Amino acid sequence: MRLIRVKDYAAMSDEAFAIVYERMSANPKLTLGLATGSTPVGLYERLVSAVQTGKLSFREARSFNLDEYVGLAPDHPQSYAYFMREHLFDHIDLPAGRWDIPSGIAPDLDEECARYEAAIEAAGGIDLQILGIGPNGHIGFNEPGTPLESRTHVVELTESTRRANARFFERPEEVPTHAITMGLGTILRAREIILLASGESKAEAMAKLLSLSDFDPELPASALHRHPEVWVIADEAALSRV
Ligand code: GLP
Repeated sequence: MRLIRVKDYAAMSDEAFAIVYERMSANPKLTLGLATGSTPVGLYERLVSAVQTGKLSFREARSFNLDEYVGLAPDHPQSYAYFMREHLFDHIDLPAGRWDIPSGIAPDLDEECARYEAAIEAAGGIDLQILGIGPNGHIGFNEPGTPLESRTHVVELTESTRRANARFFERPEEVPTHAITMGLGTILRAREIILLASGESKAEAMAKLLSLSDFDPELPASALHRHPEVWVIADEAALSRV
């Protein structure tokens, strides 16, 4: 795990963009693993402007997202599918059909999880996975206690995660109780991983992550200690308790 310390959110986004830009320039057929939440928005803005100024193209790339809420259709404004269109897909040249997000409204959710794993495999796996981190150390929606070898599965969200994500919904009771997420095992199969962290609300999780040297199920992000190619890009506020 290599730690890149940066001043603030903008610098974190610049560093992440530099790595993604470099990998995509070297391999235009890159398969990306993408994340939602406020953390990667700055990275997505930089990718959009690189595409719009002709410096980068997603025409041959592919992407898979980490997770989706159960019960929200892709056109629901709080769904992760909507988020990705709004922040990235609608503004770049990634062809429809080359991005995939688990469907939270599939009639059989277990079947959808199996479909998703198979689709990632069929695409040759994920080359570069982008991750944020939840205040309780979750990655994707893998909450504390998730097994290391888990694959895409349905999870019940913890109260703390529902609270943390309530800011995006009009009323707290609208936050879904379940989600589909890539498992820790799915994430660890990516060839390279970038974990982004910004702000004081991540300081405790980051302090725990950096104090560990191996996987501790109480902090799902610590699974990354088992991966050989991880970049952690974190700002001063996120590292304030290290
Ligand atoms: C959600 C997502 C995670 C994300 C986390 C942090 O729970 N499922 O993938 O990393 O929120 O969100 P934010 O970046 O808004 O702090």
